[in-house]
Amino acid sequence: MKSALAFMAVLTTLTTCSCSNNSTTTMSTITVKKTEFGKMPDGTAVNVFTLTNAKGVEARIIEYGGILASLKVPDRNGAMGDVVLGHDTLPDYTSDNKTYFGALIGRYANRIGGATFTLNGTKYTLPANDNGNSLHGGPQGFDKKVWTGKELPDGVELTYKSADGEAGYPGTLTAVVSYHLTDANGLVIHYTATTDKDTVVNLTNHSYWNLKGDGDILGNLLTIPADRYTPVDAGLIPTGVLAPVDGTPFDFRKPTAVGARIAQDDPQLKLGHGYDHNWIVNRTGPGSVLAARVEETTSGRVMEVYTDQPGIQFYTGNFLDGTVKGKGGKSAQLHSALCLETQHYPDTPNKPDFPTATLKPGDKYDTTTEFRFSTK
Ligand code: BGC
Repeated sequence: MKSALAFMAVLTTLTTCSCSNNSTTTMSTITVKKTEFGKMPDGTAVNVFTLTNAKGVEARIIEYGGILASLKVPDRNGAMGDVVLGHDTLPDYTSDNKTYFGALIGRYANRIGGATFTLNGTKYTLPANDNGNSLHGGPQGFDKKVWTGKELPDGVELTYKSADGEAGYPGTLTAVVSYHLTDANGLVIHYTATTDKDTVVNLTNHSYWNLKGDGDILGNLLTIPADRYTPVDAGLIPTGVLAPVDGTPFDFRKPTAVGARIAQDDPQLKLGHGYDHNWIVNRTGPGSVLAARVEETTSGRVMEVYTDQPGIQFYTGNFLDGTVKGKGGKSAQLHSALCLETQHYPDTPNKPDFPTATLKPGDKYDTTTEFRFSTK
């Protein structure tokens, strides 16, 4: 609720912007600048939108994949540092088929078991790209598309129209996702989508956070105020059980170092090669709540995640193995970042008991997540 109010407050301070190519627009205290980031092989220009607030917090978002390419926030001494993994150039992003660094994920984020689901009695088959399952919308998901960006007074609005049948999904889906920077050092991501046929949708952002800007995240103090999570099978598909975290290494209800229990002899940690699971966001009703908090004690940086979504995937970069080179040519090593992906539970289209991810014509998918930064 707190975040929803902050979000509303930002929106009410806005006035109109004169949006054009390569322009700079200043409204309230947020500056939005659009420049060219690169060109796709077919010549399509990909722009980057740089959002800056009065405190010098800077977010860069590119039209390819709607990727959050960098986010600079202050440490406890005021020194700015980039807290997301990513690449330096467009070809580095387009040739990365492994990480999903910073990208908007769709049409269905996370996994769909057996790469198939049935909706209204019709079976839909998706391209399998993860041990026979569909991961993150398949090999040509929304992370691989060029979105159309438009400057907003405090951010950028990105639109992508996914054709009926694209990547196996029914219905033309129009996704409009906006990133907003706030004066309170928050990055708000507002996702909407509409369809012309019944379909399933689950959008998220796949940023890899490293609040120190270097090293691994095993010492980060993590809080996930959730009583339950969704255990998985060998393919990382939820079994359907909502299991209590109590007495397990999945209990992050009190701040705990990410690495404190990651190597424990726990069957679920073994299946995930670390943490790669969905937690059930504790809530008493609809609206935005704190779903996770990360504290990095050397820099003092703190990130809080507020969302109205039912779940959050916590992933410790278990498949980063040094083969992908990120910014500055630096290899992305095991556990060099963590992901906190707000979402519907994985495999919801095959799990009638999970909160539904079905979108119908005339209805609007409308969800907001805020990443809020401070220091301690
Ligand atoms: C998934 C991981 C997967 C990763 C790919 C995460 O959202 O949970 O299993 O390997 O995305 O970057």
